[in-house]
Amino acid sequence: LQKAIAVIPGDGIGQEVVPEGRRVLQAVSQKHGIDLEFVDFDFASADYYQAHGTMLPEDWFDSLRGFDAIFFGAVGWPDVVPDHISLWGSLLQFRRSFDQYINLRPCRLLPGVKSPLVGYGPGDVDFYVVRENTEGEYSSIGGKMFEGTDREIVVQETVMTRTGVDRVLKFAFELADSRPNQHLTSATKSNGISITMPYWDERVKIMSENYPEVRQDQFHIDILTANFVLKPNHFDVVVASNLFGDILSDLGPACTGTIGVAPSANINPDGTFPSLFEPVHGSAPDIAGQGIANPIGQIWSGAMMLDHFGETEASADVLEGIESVLSSGDASILTPDLGGRGSTSSLGEAIASTILSR
Ligand code: NAI
Ligand code: MG
Repeated sequence: LQKAIAVIPGDGIGQEVVPEGRRVLQAVSQKHGIDLEFVDFDFASADYYQAHGTMLPEDWFDSLRGFDAIFFGAVGWPDVVPDHISLWGSLLQFRRSFDQYINLRPCRLLPGVKSPLVGYGPGDVDFYVVRENTEGEYSSIGGKMFEGTDREIVVQETVMTRTGVDRVLKFAFELADSRPNQHLTSATKSNGISITMPYWDERVKIMSENYPEVRQDQFHIDILTANFVLKPNHFDVVVASNLFGDILSDLGPACTGTIGVAPSANINPDGTFPSLFEPVHGSAPDIAGQGIANPIGQIWSGAMMLDHFGETEASADVLEGIESVLSSGDASILTPDLGGRGSTSSLGEAIASTILSR
């Protein structure tokens, strides 16, 4: 198996954690006989913007579309380029143009990671949030009337298409079907939002007929957020519309750990276009350049990429490597956000060598 990976470190700590992600991917691919080819790109960064006045070159789409995946760090450097330009000019272009209609975030309690959840330990909480990433509440259909008067009115529509809803539900049901608990929770609000949300529920019901093994339940989004905190062990796979999924996919990882360890995937499951794997965190200007950023979010994103390639054993190996190093509690290796005095590279190196020595 040969896979070509476009590497885009971006800004700030993106440039520090991406090499560690790559180090671990190299170790695990060597061990499992996977052939990964990495190609570096300097665009989608403030440096590129300063030199060219844009975040991306004109031919970015053709440069990237042939890759099997994009391994992304973080973008944003507010001193040089306003955040809405850096984000809309790069990451959001990738997500939209490459039809990455799934945003996937694991929520899993790792050993040695401080979590605000009380009474739960590693192994107790382990679920995925599947967010619809292209339509729903985030449409640009709407407008403003009578601006500046007392009659001022603003409207913004939610768009749900059968294709758009069904494809995210199918992905979520497939994922649930593949997991030991085979449990899918759907986020809804059909008591208050009386057209689109009942439609979502109806499509869930129809899709569920194809997956008789999957237990299915649904919660209104308000009580669902409460249950993420109060009963996180209830969940296995949680599927949600764009807005609800946006909220849940920040809340879930926040419940299960520090931002430095959280990974994410923006997936085009059809494989028509490359999928993108990136840590949840941003470029962290406050700690950039110090070599103390936690590389685990980036490394775990690499594991999700391996999963996407069907390399589930190699992916599990990375996760076990991360957990093993975290469990050791060795303060000379762990980064400061984990209570240690180690560095980005000491932690990345420890994970890579743990994988190779197992
Ligand atoms: P941020 O995630 O960069 O940082 C938030 C806080 O978490 C900071 O105190 C930072 O030091 C800490 N932190 C983040 N990652 C860490 C790690 N790996 N290890 C240890 N500590 C870590 O979010 P912020 O400060 O709101 O945004 C900074 C820039 O990043 C902005 O330009 C923003 O637009 C961009 N950003 C980009 C994202 C992306 O590329 N997907 C996502 C979020 C923000
Ligand atoms: Mg968000």
